[in-house]
Amino acid sequence: MLKHTKISDPFVYRHLEDELKRQEENIEMIASESIVPPEVMEIQGSVITNTTLVGYPWNRSQVGSRISDELEMEAIARAKKVFGCGHANMQVYSGSTANYGVYASVLKPGDTVLSMSPEQGGHTTHGIKGNLSHDVYQFAYYGVNRETEIIDMDELRKIALTCKPKLILAGATFYPRLIDYEGFAKIAEEVGAYLMVDMAHICGLVAARVIPSPVPFADFVTTSTTKTFCGPRSGMILCKEEHAQKLDNGVFPGLVASVHMNEIAAKCWSLQYAATAAFKETMQQILVNASALARALADRGFRIVSGTTDNHLLLVDVRSKGINGKQFQTALHKAGISVNNILVPYDSQPDVTSGVRIGLTCVTQRGMKEAQIEEIAEIMKLAADHVDDNKELEKIKEQTTGLISRYPLYKENIFED
Ligand SMILES: Cc1ncc(COP(=O)(O)O)c(C=O)c1O
Repeated sequence: MLKHTKISDPFVYRHLEDELKRQEENIEMIASESIVPPEVMEIQGSVITNTTLVGYPWNRSQVGSRISDELEMEAIARAKKVFGCGHANMQVYSGSTANYGVYASVLKPGDTVLSMSPEQGGHTTHGIKGNLSHDVYQFAYYGVNRETEIIDMDELRKIALTCKPKLILAGATFYPRLIDYEGFAKIAEEVGAYLMVDMAHICGLVAARVIPSPVPFADFVTTSTTKTFCGPRSGMILCKEEHAQKLDNGVFPGLVASVHMNEIAAKCWSLQYAATAAFKETMQQILVNASALARALADRGFRIVSGTTDNHLLLVDVRSKGINGKQFQTALHKAGISVNNILVPYDSQPDVTSGVRIGLTCVTQRGMKEAQIEEIAEIMKLAADHVDDNKELEKIKEQTTGLISRYPLYKENIFED
């Protein structure tokens, strides 16, 4: 794949080679990561990246677009089939731009949006201070119940009735439970708001139909095509048929300009892959592995936020081990496992954080099942017991390396032509 780069820029080549080695030897449990099939990388780096097109299929500003038109139409058709939606827009560049695509379609500056509190799972583009969305729109936030750590639907309704949002946003970057989309839709209808669901994290699970889909309930569904979808670094938006024109106008010319055809072609491939039995099997196993890890960690004295997980990630409150999230993240990194520290609901120590978020996508893609998840839980316990003991963490890393080496990142040498 990189034979020309190897000659023309050894610096870049060496770094990519090192990155491959890092990924091969690391137990990757950052919940937003996944391993893309080689086809996705091939397509992303293919000649179609040379095209510069503006506009929608059969109505571009440039000539010579027939092949791209056919590819984009096929990607839309595949998205409609996989997700059962009325319309799909393929032109957003990422999950973040997908969110902005919806904002540009239905909001005016100053309009009110009701989204999940950033401290409890809301994404940067859901109105976090410092993000453009926060400056342009008026955000109100809902959160989780202090006891159950599950979204408080009664509180959500009360806030919606008070702030009368134009848009209600469901979906989060760290929320381990299923979301009551029907409940959200009822509240949105009651207050006359659009309902948007950001399913960036759980897109693959929804595509494989192993967890409920927001599509029947939401006006707009945004997503990354990375994370559990395991596709290219891009995004897409699904919507009801009646919103198709509004959405397409919001995305272009409202938000983006030229079309990234290499990404659209890769999304087209991924949408076909998402309909296969192999993909479904992986998604099912992700759920099995996530629940298994939640149980195995609870058995070892960790507190699992909300008690369990219904998706690919779990939140672990490590105060029960007398440590904080940052300490645990660093100790695990030294032990060869990547996770990220995170606030737990109503966190008592937001500066250092009380928890970590752990994702099961990559380890499942590499073939791990419940027995290996049990081993990982044991490694995590050992790391938590020795956060300040570098010698011990080095020893634990040997165990980690031994485990991961049995589950190759790619079956073939992707650096070979
Ligand atoms: C809920 C949610 N929405 C959107 C995004 C942004 O996706 P992207 O990185 O593709 O812009 C993320 C990424 O972390 C996310 O977790």
